[in-house]
Amino acid sequence: MPLTTPTFDGTLSYLTFLDSVQTYNVPHIKNSVTAPEIALCMAEQISQEAMHHQSYQYIIETVIQSDRRTQVYDFWRSDRILKLRCKFIAGLYQKYVDNSTPENYFVSLFADYLLEGLYFYNGFIFFYNLSSRMLMSGSADIFRMINRDELSHVRLYQKLIPEAMQIFPHSREQIYEMFALAVEHECKWTEHIVGDDILGITANSTK
Ligand SMILES: [Fe+2]
Ligand SMILES: [Fe+2]
Repeated sequence: MPLTTPTFDGTLSYLTFLDSVQTYNVPHIKNSVTAPEIALCMAEQISQEAMHHQSYQYIIETVIQSDRRTQVYDFWRSDRILKLRCKFIAGLYQKYVDNSTPENYFVSLFADYLLEGLYFYNGFIFFYNLSSRMLMSGSADIFRMINRDELSHVRLYQKLIPEAMQIFPHSREQIYEMFALAVEHECKWTEHIVGDDILGITANSTK
């Protein structure tokens, strides 16, 4: 019998994707940054994202049985909702890589902010809920440390976005739209992978 549930596997798979995509995306953003102190913060961020990815890998390798590990890594390929979600997130970054305009730089930077500030936390809450009932407390310890790093990344983008708004072409409607879409996708995914099945989390509390 599997030791973990689809919620556990799916949440872990999604978080792994998020940190993995950051490891590859932030260097593209950083390439255009000339202020050394910001470049340094981003270099630190890239190194932390890679470490986070390695931490998830450690959890997967120690908690998931060997015959099911590939399934967890590939969850985003087999789960339709997660696949669409990952494609959307990666697509915003890819747009800038394929066509490096100032408009696309702003979108990429803002997508970073949404990822750091919004996308991780329902996943973290799932693990904190388990640990509040003395379940998977080792995993929750790892997530607490990752959570601390993510909040420092949010702070970095909180400082960068207002500066970028002075320089890069964008519209207020575009920002509201990106926020609304991010929230909508987050609710849809959490409803799909957690739903009302986990004690302490409901579709309503997610919203
Ligand atoms: Fe991270
Ligand atoms: Fe991060």
